[in-house]
Amino acid sequence: MEKTVKLIIDGNTYELPVIVGSEGEKAIDIRKLRQETGYITYDPGFASTGSCRSSITFMDGEKGILRYRGYPIEQLAEHSTFVETSFLLMNGVLPTRKELNQVRVHLNDNSLVHEDMQDFFRSFPRASHPMGILSSMVTALRSFYPEYMSAEENINTTFLRLLSKVRTMAAMSYKISRGHKVIYPRQDLTYCANFLNMMFDSPVKPYEIDEDLVRALNIFWILHADHEQNCSTAAVRVVGSGKVNIYAAISAGIAALWGPLHGGANQAVIEMLTDIAANNGDVNRAVEKAKDRNDPFRLMGFGHRVYKTYDPRAKIMKAMCDIVLSKMKKSDPLLDIARKLEEVALKDPYFIDSNLYPNVDFYSGIVLRGLGIPTNMFTVMFAIGRLPGWISQWKESIDDPHWRISRPRQVYTGEKERDYIPIDER
Ligand code: CMC
Repeated sequence: MEKTVKLIIDGNTYELPVIVGSEGEKAIDIRKLRQETGYITYDPGFASTGSCRSSITFMDGEKGILRYRGYPIEQLAEHSTFVETSFLLMNGVLPTRKELNQVRVHLNDNSLVHEDMQDFFRSFPRASHPMGILSSMVTALRSFYPEYMSAEENINTTFLRLLSKVRTMAAMSYKISRGHKVIYPRQDLTYCANFLNMMFDSPVKPYEIDEDLVRALNIFWILHADHEQNCSTAAVRVVGSGKVNIYAAISAGIAALWGPLHGGANQAVIEMLTDIAANNGDVNRAVEKAKDRNDPFRLMGFGHRVYKTYDPRAKIMKAMCDIVLSKMKKSDPLLDIARKLEEVALKDPYFIDSNLYPNVDFYSGIVLRGLGIPTNMFTVMFAIGRLPGWISQWKESIDDPHWRISRPRQVYTGEKERDYIPIDER
């Protein structure tokens, strides 16, 4: 029998259906609430609101669990590649060897971007943030490749084109921003190796591909590949609900990710650690500032809406710092500061009582610095990783039989009706 809950409003009892997810998560179905009771719900930030049913990613914030299509993030990070994980997210199953090869061929075949797009890149002022450029360029893809979204059978091609071209565009934007020659993708390289090569190869110094660093990049992107209904994914779904083309919806996701409370936190963490380093490595001062409710400063890379324990991605990322740095034969003073900051914060009652732990962004910047990625490209790295998630969530929402255009209600608190005042009488 269908489970229901009773709601008593103004003395009247209403019975509302309950939806139970496959992991036992319960939601009260309030779709008819306004129609039957005249009331709406109020939930700024949507902390208690489920916006969809989804079979892509499961998170348990209390236990620190993250699974893509049922597979634990730890297992995917250990055994999978970013391309395989992308296939899994988009199709719901792990690919066979044949399917994976087909995907690789598609990714390679679609890796070039239209030469005219380079002019577009060059027209941006040099100081432009790469996230703004990427968001505009993804929207522009629609104009350069309009034919591919016209037929239903080409949707998968569009997905792979996005994955492949966004990676090429990201590396291209870096080269152009430095005034260096653009390096083209190579057919003989895997997805991640190709990206590193496009970023760091140069006519004067060929880039030597190191399989351990390629592996590290695979893991980095697997960890970012999806995270259910976060701010940017919600943006993709909301914008996509107006039936806009996929490029515009993904571009909205990139714009949302840019914010320092979301994907931009990886850049903000490094800026914060650099600031602490400049202040003699005084982590206590940063912790005190973060605790001061009159100070807007927050410990970047700490806290999460869903995780009330250690972010499982942060555990893997923390371990990767040492692997990447030792491989690069580098040390990073910011890593010592990050570790010290974590130790002090995790012993502090403010952080303990508010369940504030390091999130994925706390250590990810150190990994990226180790790989040689410049700080202003960090959030772009997050965006490339999140693409398969956005694409999968967009597709799921478009195919959802319960789909409706996103259009929240509000509680109006402004002026009641009043008469217009002619300008001379104001
Ligand atoms: N430093 C100090 N205090 C914090 C922090 C922090 N990093 N995060 C949360 N708090 C406090 C906050 O001030 C609030 O205190 P009070 O109850 O006294 O008002 C309490 O903890 C609850 O915080 P909240 O802002 O209501 O929590 P939220 O779920 O709305 O926000 C968050 C989540 C991630 C935006 C927030 O924790 C934050 O701003 N963290 C720093 C930015 C960051 O690292 N973002 C990356 C998130 S993970 C990757 C991603 O999503 O992209």
